[in-house]
Amino acid sequence: MTIEEKLEELQRLRSEIEQGGGERRIAKQHESGKLTARERIELLLDAGTFHEIGGFVKHRCVDFGMDKEVAPGEGVVTGWGLVEGRPVCVSSQDFTVIGGSLGEMHASKIVKVMELAAKMGCPFIAINDSGGARIQEGVDALRGYGDIFYRNSIYSGVIPQISVIMGPCAGGAVYSPALTDWVFMVDKTSYMFITGPQVIKAVTGEEVDFERLGGATVHNEVSGVAHFIAPDEKSCFAQVRRLLSYIPSNNAEDPPVVERTDDPRRIEPALREVIPDDPNKGYDMHDVIEAVVDTGSFMEVHAHYATNIIVGFARLAGKSVGIIANQPRVKAGCLDIDASDKAARFIRFCDCFNIPLFTLADVPGYLPGVSQEHGGIIRHGAKLLYAYSEATVPKVTVIVRKAYGGAYIAMSSRHLGGDVVYALPTAEIAVMGPEGAANIIFRDYIKESSDPEAARKEKIEEFRQKFAKPYVAAGRGYVDDVIDPAEIRPKVISALEVLKTKVESRPAKKHGNMPV
Ligand code: HXC
Repeated sequence: MTIEEKLEELQRLRSEIEQGGGERRIAKQHESGKLTARERIELLLDAGTFHEIGGFVKHRCVDFGMDKEVAPGEGVVTGWGLVEGRPVCVSSQDFTVIGGSLGEMHASKIVKVMELAAKMGCPFIAINDSGGARIQEGVDALRGYGDIFYRNSIYSGVIPQISVIMGPCAGGAVYSPALTDWVFMVDKTSYMFITGPQVIKAVTGEEVDFERLGGATVHNEVSGVAHFIAPDEKSCFAQVRRLLSYIPSNNAEDPPVVERTDDPRRIEPALREVIPDDPNKGYDMHDVIEAVVDTGSFMEVHAHYATNIIVGFARLAGKSVGIIANQPRVKAGCLDIDASDKAARFIRFCDCFNIPLFTLADVPGYLPGVSQEHGGIIRHGAKLLYAYSEATVPKVTVIVRKAYGGAYIAMSSRHLGGDVVYALPTAEIAVMGPEGAANIIFRDYIKESSDPEAARKEKIEEFRQKFAKPYVAAGRGYVDDVIDPAEIRPKVISALEVLKTKVESRPAKKHGNMPV
């Protein structure tokens, strides 16, 4: 063969691979509101930067007619490319090829790009659209999943790992996304579950469809398995690209810095009005966050799950921060099981990847209730204490209003290693609120009084005057300064600037044993 003929052969083979499962299946994919594996990669990456590897890989299965089954690209497209000029490794399952099912060689392609990502220190992004383990390949398919789970685990905290769910993700297959840092889902076209509707009906008798069992809304609002929901695939990739802009490529790098467009010394007098005079009134903590961070830079994570706590990325003076803030509008900002889980995992991600933590506290305590106690609020709540204590990145805290009891300690207090802790004049730092405290410590006085209601009010007021303020904590040095709400932004930016060279070490150990 001449070189021209060889190049022609190469071109023909490449084009067969690029056609995936063929026109009919591609049309079916489009009809169901989904893009192909390659179209998705195009949307994710900077134009023209994708380099495919492993396109020629073939399966080795001969059972159940598989010897005659041609599977272009082995049902997954893998390679690397750039996002805003920064390298990422990517795998994109091709549902048009044997339903994107995962066999031995399909898995080996994914493993190869994962290893590449870990070696070169760049994020790994897996686009999932698969019928699960390729049934014909039996235990070889299971081994493939195991190989991926193992790498998801050992690369955790080394490189950011992102899962984008754009179709079925069922059975044990869900555990790769669950092991990664971020799970994105597309509304109505993606679903995740361990056992599907048919099995559930057979075992428990419950009737449920795919969407109500494991659709994007369920996992974003109820289970917390997914962190982001998008109305369509295009906006999903825009979200992924935005998320990447806040995080470094690996754990040895600092997060990217963007050009500063917002004045770091900006004073925000409107913040004096956001926090109501009545301590029992709610307000939206988003208003505080938006006013403090660089304009328009807040990207909320888990926006629909455990909404009594807000977490997300933002920029202060062009630099990434991870924000953790109680939301007084929901459950009065109490910490509960889901909020503790949500915040603890977010804090740990930030700590893995050198992103400073900025905490806004307004928390009346842990949520009371039998279901919380029986659900294990003790061990779940402990995760938050553990995550903050373990984190060695700069930690700046502003106590906005309530900071009561164990929840005061939990929200990045000085006692868990908060580096700079500010309080607003509206802060109330105490073991509990004035009502609860007066009812307990002055119980006999109130009971024996000729007018118990008046006595109760008097004692509540006495307690409020003494403790519902930031000055007792400031007097002990637990709070570094009491600041004007208008000055949160310049104060926090200055604190983060001074903490930029922070070094904090921990006793040598293999790893801690975080409560799970
Ligand atoms: C082999 C599969 C497959 C699989 C789908 N296909 N899933 N082939 N192994 N797991 C094939 C179909 O036979 C079909 O081939 C093509 O892919 C497209 O599938 P359709 O069924 O036509 O698509 P759709 O109607 O959209 O339904 C999608 C689906 C369904 C709901 C995902 O395919 C399905 O239920 N698949 C089986 C799911 C499953 O039980 N997987 C194993 C889970 S256990 P043709 O030739 O007709 O186009 C598991 C364990 C993992 O994953 C353990 C890890 C530890």
